[in-house]
Amino acid sequence: MESKFVINGGKKLKGEIKVKGAKNAALKVFAAAVLTSGTVRLSNVPEVEDIVRISELLKDLGVKISHPKYGEYHVTASKIKKVPMNSDIASKLRASIVLTASLLARTGQVKFPHPGGCVIGERPIDIFLDGYKSLGATINYQNGLYEIRAKKLTGAKFVFNTVSVTGTEAMLMAASLAKGKTILKNCACEPEVESLANFLNSCGAKIQGAGTPFITIEGVDSLKGGEYETIPDRIEAGTFAILAAATKSNVLIKNCEPEHLDSLWNVLRNAGVNLKIGKDSVEVFPLRLKAVNVKTHEYPGFPTDLQAPFCVLLTQAEGQGLVHETIFEGRLLWLDDLKRMGANVLTHDPHRISIQGPTKLRSRDIESPDLRAGMAYLIAALCAKGKSTINNVYQIDRGYEKIEERLRKIGADIKRI
Ligand code: EPZ
Repeated sequence: MESKFVINGGKKLKGEIKVKGAKNAALKVFAAAVLTSGTVRLSNVPEVEDIVRISELLKDLGVKISHPKYGEYHVTASKIKKVPMNSDIASKLRASIVLTASLLARTGQVKFPHPGGCVIGERPIDIFLDGYKSLGATINYQNGLYEIRAKKLTGAKFVFNTVSVTGTEAMLMAASLAKGKTILKNCACEPEVESLANFLNSCGAKIQGAGTPFITIEGVDSLKGGEYETIPDRIEAGTFAILAAATKSNVLIKNCEPEHLDSLWNVLRNAGVNLKIGKDSVEVFPLRLKAVNVKTHEYPGFPTDLQAPFCVLLTQAEGQGLVHETIFEGRLLWLDDLKRMGANVLTHDPHRISIQGPTKLRSRDIESPDLRAGMAYLIAALCAKGKSTINNVYQIDRGYEKIEERLRKIGADIKRI
């Protein structure tokens, strides 16, 4: 039976919590391991459901994966079966789209279904298809499967119409094994992109400019295996900081990279939160919260993945805050349940809402619709006095490792049943 979280909220939290490795960085390195026949050794990998899914997807393609210890994985793609990607898994995992790039570059072909992930908007894949075409690939769509072929990809100039994280990552991988030079413009600058490029370069790729909108890749004939230490999960760190502020708690967040969250620190300070930022830690002190406006933006702007947790914080702040979600068109739908918990939310259009606070949230039985909104409900349940239940916690387990155990250590009353 599906497990659920039972939460007794309304209590202050206190203590230290450690941030795990970033799932959205590790997933891409699992996919990148297909570019080489050597072994890729990953460490600081979060033990979350999305990592289990990508491992299954790769094993299905003949890739060998071992899990020698907690947080460590060895991936060896010495042989790859030329079979379509497992539809059941790929249709549930958005990161599977990145694997299309490495499979295409390594084997000259890839067959896959439309990728899945969170229900936060349309999630098209036109950028990937256009990108592969620009490198000389041909594309067919038949019986629910895309089939992409290219004997040898060829370097080209490609401009992203929309800034895309996985789109940029896919083009980094594809172009690394292409013939000649690729120039990418309007690239995503997220730390996960830069981290992937650093890893690929350590395996012999020639990528310059990752972390900026302009990237140049000089294709190479082959890549060797390598090692990757997963960067800290900036979204998890930000979520913990928002949780601490929303519950007016004093929490020390450790093992994080504060530099990756400068836009959040700005917004939190404007909202009256007192922060002590260290080299790899952030301490949040409880203060009187006041409403602020936030607008999600590509990195280094305010991350869309923190929009839902931040909305919960606004329910606890004095005044009215406008939230403008600019990246995904379906990412404010989860607020209906937050309204049922007593939040005072005014919907302007699919991209903009206002929240008037402070309100006393009411405990409730809630369904977790997706990863980040699920986590936002968890924060709301910790703010609300009384017993709340969160169902469908698979969605939360996709991206947060054993969250209930870690939150219990800082005083949260939360059980998995
Ligand atoms: C990545 O998704 C993350 N997922 C998301 O995290 C994150 O919310 C998002 O980046 C934005 O930061 C992974 O890394 C696996 P995009 P991605 O392509 O790459 C449009 C989480 O909770 N677009 O940067 O899929 C798209 O609709 C997840 O961990 C096209 O139009 O997002 C969106 O409006 C959720 N055509 C915009 O680009 C395409 O072909 C940016 O999305 C692709 C995207």
